[in-house]
Amino acid sequence: MSDNNRLRIAMQKSGRLSKESQELLAQCGVKINLQEQRLLAYAENMPIDILRVRDDDIPGLIFDGVVDLGIIGENVLEEEELSRTAAGEQVNYQMLRRLDFGGCRLSLALPRDLAYQGVQDLQNCRIATSYPQLLKRYMSQQGVRFKSCLLNGSVEVAPRAGLADAICDLVSSGATLEANGLREVEVIYRSKACLIQRAAPLSAEKQALVDRLLTRIQGVSQARE
Ligand code: PRP
Ligand code: ZN
Ligand code: MG
Repeated sequence: MSDNNRLRIAMQKSGRLSKESQELLAQCGVKINLQEQRLLAYAENMPIDILRVRDDDIPGLIFDGVVDLGIIGENVLEEEELSRTAAGEQVNYQMLRRLDFGGCRLSLALPRDLAYQGVQDLQNCRIATSYPQLLKRYMSQQGVRFKSCLLNGSVEVAPRAGLADAICDLVSSGATLEANGLREVEVIYRSKACLIQRAAPLSAEKQALVDRLLTRIQGVSQARE
């Protein structure tokens, strides 16, 4: 276990948010020597430890209070929150700030040659997704029944593989849909990266450090505007 007086920040190890999460800390003056295979990294000039994990694990680490801060996509955060709430658990955390990166949308997509007039056309279809809760919420708001097919990766091959009629997945450039002969038909959720803090209070020293980081993040984002 690392020193408990050090602020623990969880960020994505490899994926869409990794590079900009690292850059954000660098812009805040946090000096970290990140080696590719290291899951734990230490800041040289501040009492901060960086935990590099799968993005999907970050909301739970914050909800359970085992790390202090997390940089995560709102889509993953909200999915995990809905999932825990559905399981009857209480979810607590603090939203510190929406960040200027990691923009993407969660969309429904169909094989390109399939006709589509509106979401009612998906009545009783099977939809492959890694975001069953966000999809369920949207479809029940629309009053459309569907069957779900949970896949944590390779969602875009599901229609071709005969696993599902449609998919609900993240779209950023649209290249993945294009490459798989799929057409985006509805945007159901828009997401950006955000910075969250565990609900349980931090020590005064740690909280002062968080406040300093936040001030720097604000400065960086104002300078960009
Ligand atoms: C998402 C999604 C697609 C890809 C879409 O995965 O599952 O594979 O991005 O991006 P594009 O529209 O630019 O082609 P992502 O890597 O974000 O999530 P994951 O690694 O957590 O599965
Ligand atoms: Zn992921
Ligand atoms: Mg993916």
